[in-house]
Amino acid sequence: MTIRDDMLDLIRSHQYGYSLPQPFYKDPEFFKQDLELTWYRDWLFAGHDCELTKPGHYITLQVGAYPVVVVRGRDGEIRAFHNSCRHRGSRVCLKEKGTTAKLVCPYHQWTYDLDGKLLFARQMGDDFDPSQHSLKPVACERVAGYIFICLADEPADFQPVRDLVEPYFLPHDLANAKVAHETTIIEEGNWKLVWENNRECYHCAGNHPELCKTYPEAPSVTHITGEATDPEMSAHWRKCESAGLPARFHMHESGQFRAIRSPLLGDSVSYTMNGKPAVSRNLSDLAVDGIGALMLFHYPSSWNHVLKDHAVTFRVMPLGPNRTAVTTKWLVHKDAVEGVDYDLENLTHVWNHTNDQDRQIVEENARGIESPAYEPGPYSELHEGGVIQFVEWYKEFMAPRLQGAGARPLKDVA
Ligand code: FES
Ligand SMILES: [Fe+2]
Repeated sequence: MTIRDDMLDLIRSHQYGYSLPQPFYKDPEFFKQDLELTWYRDWLFAGHDCELTKPGHYITLQVGAYPVVVVRGRDGEIRAFHNSCRHRGSRVCLKEKGTTAKLVCPYHQWTYDLDGKLLFARQMGDDFDPSQHSLKPVACERVAGYIFICLADEPADFQPVRDLVEPYFLPHDLANAKVAHETTIIEEGNWKLVWENNRECYHCAGNHPELCKTYPEAPSVTHITGEATDPEMSAHWRKCESAGLPARFHMHESGQFRAIRSPLLGDSVSYTMNGKPAVSRNLSDLAVDGIGALMLFHYPSSWNHVLKDHAVTFRVMPLGPNRTAVTTKWLVHKDAVEGVDYDLENLTHVWNHTNDQDRQIVEENARGIESPAYEPGPYSELHEGGVIQFVEWYKEFMAPRLQGAGARPLKDVA
């Protein structure tokens, strides 16, 4: 039996509507398969266009074993590369973000252009061919202000993501936003526990006093899985749609990504303690008020809340079987001025607290699952339908890959 056979057996025998068996949440070998069959093969949210406004602006990220750099070229294109020098492999860009005219490796100063071409390598001899030593490209796509990357040699078609995301997100003009604030927190728990916690609000009333001031915990509003049954939800969708904003639940047939607009509580319009806008300058010039929150998830790396005045975007990165990084970015209009149009504490208060509360929940969940006495328990159909959807997506996604199907990864993982 290989580890893949073990995983497949457990997936096949898993009881629908129950949490997963223990190894999925803690076993280092299972985690390695998650990386190789999911994270190294699929489109991942890397960052925002608006973080790379000028040629030479770059961000770096680490996906499992792969360091990646995303950089805007002189032609305005945004490209991604393996952040590993073609000389002896050193990381080329060391900072999380920065601006540079060229990508210069700190080890022996091999120098790459912003499009990855090797421009300069000192005293490598007459036979050396720089054209054979460009930085290796990583697939990179942009949609509505979001940059996605894919480490696979033959990435899945990105068009379905574009088709679903653009109608919902383009009206918010996130390409012309700026990151007002950014945090990265480490949660001592498996990435799937981070997601399971995100996909339900069964825990909200007991844990999120700040978020619950504006965010409805009613599953008929914020956690529906199809047509609206709640008249408030139907009315909200009709209102948004009559203003030209797609609103209703739309999930890709794979279950991997979904967009929806949900109302906030009462007359709240933003995630603030009093429900009032956090930013006086809106993200775009939408005329309609009371549009609530536009939410998108894209497994395995991102969930998002876009409001009229600001957006909060989240990036999940697995660091180990029991360790996950969650990066949160607060986006406001690029011309909004801190201290004039928004107060940073007011803008970030609710989600800073909510993130920390979620971190504690996930970490306690992980600690409890470590117990030899742990066994999978039942999800609430009413409140945790989103968790069931996530777990079913994971199972359906992994099963064929564990049997060898799916896009070829960058490195042969057999
Ligand atoms: S490893 Fe990059 S220049 Fe030597
Ligand atoms: Fe939460």
